[in-house]
Amino acid sequence: MLLTWLLVTAHFAHVLALENGLMRVPPMGWMTWERFRCNVDCTNNSKNCISERLILDIADRLVKDGWRELGYNYVNIDDCWMAKERNKEGRLVPDPGRFPSGIKALADYVHSRGLKLGIYADLGNKTCADYPGTTLDKVELDAKTFAEWHVDMLKLDGCYSTSKEQAKGYPRMSKALNATGRLIGYSCSWPAYQGGLPPKVNYSQLKQICNLWRNYDDIEDSWASVLKVIDWFAENQNVLQPMAGPGHWNDPDMLVIGNFGLSFEEAKSQMAFWALLAAPLFMSNDLRTISKEAREILQNRLLIKINQDPLGIQGWRILKEISEIEVHFRPLSNSASALLFFSRRTDMPLHYSTSLRHLNFTGWSVYKAHDVYSRKVVNGLRINTNFTVVVNPSGVVMWYLIPIKPLTL
Ligand code: GLA
Repeated sequence: MLLTWLLVTAHFAHVLALENGLMRVPPMGWMTWERFRCNVDCTNNSKNCISERLILDIADRLVKDGWRELGYNYVNIDDCWMAKERNKEGRLVPDPGRFPSGIKALADYVHSRGLKLGIYADLGNKTCADYPGTTLDKVELDAKTFAEWHVDMLKLDGCYSTSKEQAKGYPRMSKALNATGRLIGYSCSWPAYQGGLPPKVNYSQLKQICNLWRNYDDIEDSWASVLKVIDWFAENQNVLQPMAGPGHWNDPDMLVIGNFGLSFEEAKSQMAFWALLAAPLFMSNDLRTISKEAREILQNRLLIKINQDPLGIQGWRILKEISEIEVHFRPLSNSASALLFFSRRTDMPLHYSTSLRHLNFTGWSVYKAHDVYSRKVVNGLRINTNFTVVVNPSGVVMWYLIPIKPLTL
């Protein structure tokens, strides 16, 4: 009896702490912002403006091209979907020219394709791109509106709000979303507006109220930007790493793979780091015209498996060599792990020789390593075995490592 009571109490404590039980593994999908920004010119650019047509096109591609089956199931509209004014009842409304069928109809369509719909709002006087904001007095009403539209996820941005308003508004929206009775994933941009680090950011609180949170600056379509994000996460890993887990994730921002700014090696690096970091995988690209190479990177099953590992432990940097090679590590379920070898070099492929012992492995297991990109398998690795990986400039080698059997002496 006591045991039952303890279990029930533990269960409820768990549910309450997680608020909504969603996103036990990092969410995956697609978002408008990085690629399509605030393009509202449907007259001259009807295929690429923020509109229901774009969302329908992308939803169709997610289904037709195998993305949904791999887990990419959210379609998220970012800023610039709204009309410039709230309606007479004070509600947010979509731009009637660009979303003539309304958001509810869009959600119905997206759901009929086995996908989920995400939307954007901003806790402040206006959104970052100047559309109506969700001031504190509007939090409950907007949550209700999104629930009535059958929206599945909300990104709440923080432009044009003060620290005080954010401290009130982010928890208030969490409560308001829960009170709607609809399960709505909640992405909080709050930490990004507070420098991303304690003492200004209270990650224990964020874990209680948000499913994911943007920690840092906006990602752009360039390697410099992606590398800046990667470096910031590694430099602050002692603070950030323990905060991630099932239901609550650090968000280094969108995947820009498939756009214009990254080389093939850099694109592989972004995907590998996002897998290592247990990051939400929201692509922002044009799935109607994406190249085969970019698609293969984003659809790499082993990388997705690493990203979606049920333990949800975020990886971290374990080593920085003077040769400008870094090694990162992520523990995975069933005693597996991921190793990421990354080169900052800008000259030529580097032959990096090491052993698992040098990478902090202990014990007597024999390991099998799957190279996630080349698909080569290295068998029979003991912790003292020397091995060499060839890492291209700005590139990675990533291993999925499984212990095969303990060594019998
Ligand atoms: C902020 C956010 C971005 C995007 C834009 C929209 O900059 O960080 O991700 O949502 O606003 O205006």
